[in-house]
Amino acid sequence: MGQHVYGVDLGTNNIKMYSSASDNILNEKNVIAIKNKNEVFSYGNEAFEMYEKAPDNIAVSFPVKFGVIADIKNMETLFNCFYRKLNGGKNITGAEYCVAVPTDVTEVEKRAFYDVILDAKLKAKNITVVEKPIADAVGMGIDVKSPNGHMIVDIGSDTTEISVISLGGIVLSKLIKTGGTKFDEAICSIVRKKYNLIIGSRSAEQVKMQLADALEPDESVIATTYGRNILTGLPNAREISATLIHEAISELLHSIIENIKLILERTPPELTADIYAKGIFLTGGSAGILNLDKLITEETGLKVNMAENPSETVIRGIAAIVTTPELEGLTYVPREKQYS
Ligand SMILES: Nc1ncnc2c1ncn2[C@@H]1O[C@H](COP(=O)(O)OP(=O)(O)OP(=O)(O)O)[C@@H](O)[C@H]1O
Ligand SMILES: [Mg+2]
Repeated sequence: MGQHVYGVDLGTNNIKMYSSASDNILNEKNVIAIKNKNEVFSYGNEAFEMYEKAPDNIAVSFPVKFGVIADIKNMETLFNCFYRKLNGGKNITGAEYCVAVPTDVTEVEKRAFYDVILDAKLKAKNITVVEKPIADAVGMGIDVKSPNGHMIVDIGSDTTEISVISLGGIVLSKLIKTGGTKFDEAICSIVRKKYNLIIGSRSAEQVKMQLADALEPDESVIATTYGRNILTGLPNAREISATLIHEAISELLHSIIENIKLILERTPPELTADIYAKGIFLTGGSAGILNLDKLITEETGLKVNMAENPSETVIRGIAAIVTTPELEGLTYVPREKQYS
């Protein structure tokens, strides 16, 4: 592959970009703040700081929803902003690009990821896509070209992708609309019901990171959160227990595990044997929930291998794919848009 290669993972929550020239990974919130409908006010982590806090003339939004690009114009603007940031303000011509796409979505939705880079007019030498489960697997150090079956479970923010791969290809993949955002919503709702306290999604995410435990936690583990009391309308602080957070997310975790079982049932027996021997590979930012691996083992009887840096396995996989000649052939060019 050429001298300059870029990898791109446009996640619902976080955008991750890799540059081979600097061997750097940029990981920021995939968020844009637009002032007066047309001016980029801020982007990335800085824009996220304003989320649910901005005045009416500033719109803060996430252009990727449920794993697919919902707002192409803002996604293109954001891609250009991050691209320049990664390059110290410069546009590099003649480079190669590889962008990750979810597997269980339509061809048109896959093509949109490719179009974001095509439309950035970077005079790219080549643009390819790679299926996220394949990139995840490479990012976790799996020999994806071997004839062995592997199960990859990526629990991100809006989505969970459960896949079985073998021989460098996808055997089965299911994208379900459950992930970190749903956990945050469930936390907001239980805190409101139990304490008449309305908390924002960022506060919910914070307590989740502090307290979420997939197994029954100790009563004494607590954290403080802040919000508005529904009855008095006044700001209020409240101590929240890990037990309450466990109660909020438990059902959602079980629905993910039910889907894992469903995919296992549909997997051809020879591959099931491989998965049994090696265990499930768990990744995605939400894999950081304490004891999630233990819960999955309890429910499925399978060993669980945790990714080292779960939010970045896709981009680290892409980085390896675009820089390792033996891994060529795992990427492809999506079909042209079909206008009918
Ligand atoms: N330690 C942690 N415990 C629980 N959740 C976590 C932890 N760290 C990150 N998360 C959650 O992980 C999610 C982000 O993960 P990730 O970066 O994999 O998502 P994404 O790639 O943007 O989303 P998607 O793959 O769904 O498009 C957020 O919902 C965040 O709250
Ligand atoms: Mg992701």
